[in-house]
Amino acid sequence: STDVDDVLTAFRSGDPVLIHDAADREGETDLVYPAREVTPDSVRRLRNDAGGLVCIALADRVARAWDLPFLQEILSHPAAANHRLEYDERSSFSLPVNHRDTYTGITDDDRALTIATIGAAAEAPKAMDFSATFRTPGHVHLLRAAPDLLSDRQGHTELGVALAETAGLPPAVVVCEMLDDETGGALAPSAAKAYADRNDLRYVDGTHLIERLG
Ligand code: 5RP
Ligand code: ZN
Ligand code: CA
Repeated sequence: STDVDDVLTAFRSGDPVLIHDAADREGETDLVYPAREVTPDSVRRLRNDAGGLVCIALADRVARAWDLPFLQEILSHPAAANHRLEYDERSSFSLPVNHRDTYTGITDDDRALTIATIGAAAEAPKAMDFSATFRTPGHVHLLRAAPDLLSDRQGHTELGVALAETAGLPPAVVVCEMLDDETGGALAPSAAKAYADRNDLRYVDGTHLIERLG
């Protein structure tokens, strides 16, 4: 079996996987979970072991069903003009949200409730009234994937959603950058692989996912 097969099997069983995008893009490894499997312990692992921004990437059709815009399109503040990224054409950020049954929204319990509810609802998005269930602003960032996924954009947003679609899971995945506690920079691929080995998790390079799922 290839590393992609192993990643699919692990992800399907609810385990997190590590996805490196590309050295010539962000050069980041994200820790990625199927959103519906996320528990308070998963949130603890995301903030302690990954340390980046905890986000949920959604398929375009799910974002559409819930009327979720790209953040940049709805912000009128001048800071949103001329949005320029060094590594991509556009950002995938949509709204930051909290489940309405959370208190502050940031605790492990609160974020797990927000994430797991969105993860389960992504299976049949029209069945949930999004605005009756979630409020914005909140503490979990939603990301909206490109409609044609990897042929369109090759971010962790699309890599994660493509993985979920291929695994037969609802297209909602948590992504969070792995940062290096010594340098504060992106965790190097070798260190991300070592973390995966130590924790019996699977690591995959985005180029391999694009070859198989793209
Ligand atoms: C949000 C991000 C991450 O890089 C995340 O992986 C999603 O972005 P992209 O699809 O551009 O890789 O910036 O924390
Ligand atoms: Zn990324
Ligand atoms: Ca990033």
